[in-house]
Amino acid sequence: IHWQATDVDKTARAAQKNQTGRIVWFTGLSGAGKSTVANLVEKRLHALGRHTYLLDGDNVRHGLNKNLGFTEEDRVENIRRVAEVAKLMVDAGLIVLTAFISPFRAERRMARELMGEGEFVEVYVDTPLAVAEQRDVKGLYKKARAGELKNFTGVDSPYEPPEHAEIVVDTSKLTAVEAAERIVQWLEGKAP
Ligand code: PPS
Repeated sequence: IHWQATDVDKTARAAQKNQTGRIVWFTGLSGAGKSTVANLVEKRLHALGRHTYLLDGDNVRHGLNKNLGFTEEDRVENIRRVAEVAKLMVDAGLIVLTAFISPFRAERRMARELMGEGEFVEVYVDTPLAVAEQRDVKGLYKKARAGELKNFTGVDSPYEPPEHAEIVVDTSKLTAVEAAERIVQWLEGKAP
């Protein structure tokens, strides 16, 4: 199989939207606030005229990845597919936000390496486990602690924190709106 070059490339597609395509990759524990903050960031970017798309763990697992569970192998495949889809969307000229726990460094590195220089922005939603567990919006930590839910991140499945994330926000110290504002400022400061 040979790579087929297209006359209209990603730079041309993005330029038509007056933006640079990139992935804004949110990572963090369940309940850290990834989806909430990513939603707010998308809303702000959209209001600024940016063409965006938000890929969210819970949603993608309803369709494209509905055959995957939470074993290490399935999480690796989940992130591999998401990274490839996000790359295609960047190729289409979009600013793609992804909100997945994405617990393993190796898979986040793989996603970064799929992209060109500056096209991958890692956002670590660094909310302490105790705070995420206290919130327990979906009641999943309680089930995991009771042994009713296996392989739960932070309980009996590991989370490897990023060492070089471009942006770090802690939603136990910032409101979701403040965290989103900080991310938008960073993105808009660096983007044309
Ligand atoms: S991963 O690790 O990146 O493949 O996970 P992701 O696709 O982001 O899916 C995380 C959401 O699935 C729910 N859920 C679980 N999370 C972690 N561990 C286990 N075992 C699990 N089972 C179900 C949970 O609602 C996660 O949503 P968020 O929004 O992160 O809380």
